[in-house]
Amino acid sequence: MRQKRLLIMIGLFFALEAWSDFITDDEYAKMLYENPRGIGCDKCHGSHGEGMILSSYKDKNGKVVNITAPRINDIPMKRFSSSFEKKSKLMPVYFLTSDEKAYLYYYLTKNQKKERVANVN
Ligand code: HEC
Repeated sequence: MRQKRLLIMIGLFFALEAWSDFITDDEYAKMLYENPRGIGCDKCHGSHGEGMILSSYKDKNGKVVNITAPRINDIPMKRFSSSFEKKSKLMPVYFLTSDEKAYLYYYLTKNQKKERVANVN
């Protein structure tokens, strides 16, 4: 009986191992963008990094002022990764590894590259 349970557990372990291999780089990158151990980047920068208006208010002269999160799918890699070291009043602090930053950058720019290729052809 015990042996049977152990065998089932080993089987489950390998099934899970195999399943995790089915997650592609694209899926992993998207998952990280939407759930980066903190509030998802998409909540402020939009689902593809296109940027978003977070809120608006009227200043004392009645002029509408927008608080925005900038577009982040068209900036150079260096600027992207160094921006996490800057203190911001609005953007939360993230503790991301360089691998995770690379995946996020990949996620944000992969369609851009496709668009650019499509424009050339
Ligand atoms: C609560 C809203 C919010 C969330 C969540 C957020 N950001 Fe930001 N982000 C901002 C704002 C606002 C700025 C503009 C700079 C500032 O005000 O500090 C910014 C700036 C940036 C910049 C610099 C852009 C530039 O032009 O230099 C990058 C890159 C960036 N964010 C990436 C991310 C990534 C990746 C995530 C998820 C891990 C994320 N942000 C999550 C609000 C957010």
